[in-house]
Amino acid sequence: MYVIVKNLSFKYKNAKDYQITNFNLEIEKGEIVALLGPSGSGKSTILRLISGLEIPNGGEIIVNNRVLYNKNVFIEPQKRGIGMVFQDYALFPHMTVEKNILFGLEKINKEARQRILDEVLELVDMKEYKKRYPHELSGGQQQRIAIARALAPKPSLLLLDEPFSNLDAGLKKRIRKEIKEILKKSNITSIFVTHDIEDAKDVADRIECHPCEM
Ligand SMILES: Nc1ncnc2c1ncn2[C@@H]1O[C@H](COP(=O)(O)OP(=O)(O)OP(=O)(O)O)[C@@H](O)[C@H]1O
Ligand SMILES: [Mg+2]
Repeated sequence: MYVIVKNLSFKYKNAKDYQITNFNLEIEKGEIVALLGPSGSGKSTILRLISGLEIPNGGEIIVNNRVLYNKNVFIEPQKRGIGMVFQDYALFPHMTVEKNILFGLEKINKEARQRILDEVLELVDMKEYKKRYPHELSGGQQQRIAIARALAPKPSLLLLDEPFSNLDAGLKKRIRKEIKEILKKSNITSIFVTHDIEDAKDVADRIECHPCEM
């Protein structure tokens, strides 16, 4: 199994109750899993735990045979190789598309960076938009660039937190299809959070619910 999340539990420091108790999830390489659940059920928290932005109180997280968290191990978020697309703050507004995508890849040599840039822009079909600023793009185009940026460092796992929430209904339908195609083309393993069952059905190979009473 490529991703194993076992008996994960978590409580925010200032909270009385646990937000996550004994959460389990297993994902095969290349699979797109939708994490579906009502508002406040802890979906974003689960993504934050997997990416290392929060420290669990117990359990285990393993990706590609590498332990990212257990009772003895905590790998820092920047060392996990996990990409994340958030619902807001998707792009840096003062940077062009090109700069947004290459942000964080400064250590790589110039030719390789250029190659990665072309590759991910090709993948999201946005090659002509390198020099544009985010406000010069439509909502859907911004989301595609956000995905391109998350894919540029070649993450082992991609986490998407309600990536369609800012889009109108018509655009949303089209973007769902596009995102699925992009994820499948890059063969990346991904977890995609939504509270919309139609999103989940359209994009995911498999639906996991949280909490699971469905
Ligand atoms: N930083 C925080 N400190 C304390 N409690 C928090 C914090 N962030 C979230 N919570 C609480 O944890 C619970 C889970 O929140 P989370 O954001 O994971 O839900 P969600 O399923 O992503 O909801 P939505 O669909 O509305 O995005 C909520 O009750 C929320 O109020
Ligand atoms: Mg959320």
